[in-house]
Amino acid sequence: MTSRVALVTGGTGGIGTAIVKRLASLGHKVATNYRDEAKAKAWQQKLKAEGVDATIVPGDVSDTASAEGIVRAVEQRLGPVEILINNAGITRDTTFHKMTAAQWHEVINTNLNSCFNMTRPVIDGMRARKWGRIVQISSINGQKGQYGQANYAASKAGMHGFTISLAQENAKFGITVNTVSPGYVATEMVMAVPEDVRNKIAAQIPIGRLGEPDEIAYAVAFFVNEEARWITGANLAINGGQYMGW
Ligand code: CAA
Repeated sequence: MTSRVALVTGGTGGIGTAIVKRLASLGHKVATNYRDEAKAKAWQQKLKAEGVDATIVPGDVSDTASAEGIVRAVEQRLGPVEILINNAGITRDTTFHKMTAAQWHEVINTNLNSCFNMTRPVIDGMRARKWGRIVQISSINGQKGQYGQANYAASKAGMHGFTISLAQENAKFGITVNTVSPGYVATEMVMAVPEDVRNKIAAQIPIGRLGEPDEIAYAVAFFVNEEARWITGANLAINGGQYMGW
């Protein structure tokens, strides 16, 4: 298997950590960005103890210049970025009539504008080398909407619009661009939903439980695989059956 350089944004989070570990286990050289140095170093040590080497670089994906800095730092340390996983994301849940402009912009900047910020600095190299894998980590709530998430759902739906345009523009360059749309996975983000609300949501999942981060990482590895070369512009729902759009 060819070892590639993979950059996973928000790699220290719940789903991000699972993606980092899985790509590393496949032999890829994996990097992620961080904003909190102490937290990121502790995370890196923990992974090292488990036998996983992850490169960490400082930077904020919601800021165009900072995001470019992340890409250039990874290039310097590991080589050109061949696999990009746009995973970093936040929630600022509240009903729209109470939502502030700050809550709207923070979510759009971190979840959606980050896709521009991170992908723009890697796309020329991927096109020149005629190989690339880009995966957006969107959400079930970008597909079905969610009470209290007008900002988040808009950002996540936007990510797939980005995917299907980029997929068309870069298909001839050996670059595939796909979306994974996780449902409710047992991470800090989902556990922050009030328990009573979360229990009601969990009851709507036919498989009968929240997802595990590695069940999302599995699909990312699938899209990244060399043999997935004819799969582009797809949106793979992984949600325990909670939403079955087509
Ligand atoms: N459908 C219809 N009505 C709903 C509703 C729903 N899904 N959810 C709440 N309501 C109603 C309640 O019944 C209540 O009605 P009454 O006032 O008539 O009793 C009312 O909304 C409560 O409204 P408030 O504005 O007072 O609610 P709040 O400010 O306390 O909280 C909320 C609202 C922030 C949206 C809260 O319900 C919440 O956190 N919901 C969960 C949102 C969610 O799913 N977030 C996902 C986070 S994880 C993630 O995003 C990862 C991923 O990709 C899946």
